[in-house]
Amino acid sequence: MSDKYKIIGPVYDLLSTIYSGKQIHRCKTAMHEDIKAGDKVLFAGVGHGRDAVHAAECGAEVTVVDLSATMLKNFEKNLKGRNFKHPIRTVHSDIMKFAEVDAYDYVFANFFLNVFPEGFMVDVMKHLSTLVNKNGALVVGDFHFPTGNWFVRKFQSLYWYIAVLTFTIFAKNAFHEIYNYPKHLESIGFKVEKTKRYNIFALPCYWSLKATRQAD
Ligand SMILES: C[S@@+](CC[C@H](N)C(=O)[O-])C[C@H]1O[C@@H](n2cnc3c(N)ncnc32)[C@H](O)[C@@H]1O
Repeated sequence: MSDKYKIIGPVYDLLSTIYSGKQIHRCKTAMHEDIKAGDKVLFAGVGHGRDAVHAAECGAEVTVVDLSATMLKNFEKNLKGRNFKHPIRTVHSDIMKFAEVDAYDYVFANFFLNVFPEGFMVDVMKHLSTLVNKNGALVVGDFHFPTGNWFVRKFQSLYWYIAVLTFTIFAKNAFHEIYNYPKHLESIGFKVEKTKRYNIFALPCYWSLKATRQAD
């Protein structure tokens, strides 16, 4: 299968820093404050994976999965010279073929679900939810669903469309509106229990959502 991130992959983290300063990285690591040493943590579509490195530094047992050899090569570069209590396990695979059911305390989907068209995105979200153990959490870090007055919503949408257009052109990602992740999480039986927002020009443009299974 062709590597969709061959062109844009090597500069992915640089672009995210240019686009957001440190806000994307802050968003991706927002829920790490809840991770305990020894927790089993999965990063789906890890990319360059500085968030995964941070989780391993917190003492978590980290597994990362990505389909792109280019992204994983960049991830490996970020691992150079680092030692963790639990070495990171790297899996080169389509996440839909990764089936460690009920195995993880945390499953992170940072800027991952937005690469898929909406119907398939929900299938991927459902699949990720099966990997979360009974008391675990699914964490989604991504672009903030437009909220607030007309001006704020237009800014949030424009900010998203510049990014999605770039990634549609260079990585063949799906082109779509910003997804309403809380709504989709509810539809698969999860509930957002904690939200952290990250601003661009004082307007919320990213959020990290920690979701747990709803009681029956
Ligand atoms: C937009 S990037 C986000 C990377 C990283 N999570 C971040 O926040 O920087 C999406 C990542 O998902 C990976 N990916 C796309 N489809 C995938 C799939 N079906 N299975 C596993 N990884 C996939 C891509 O290779 C890419 O690394």
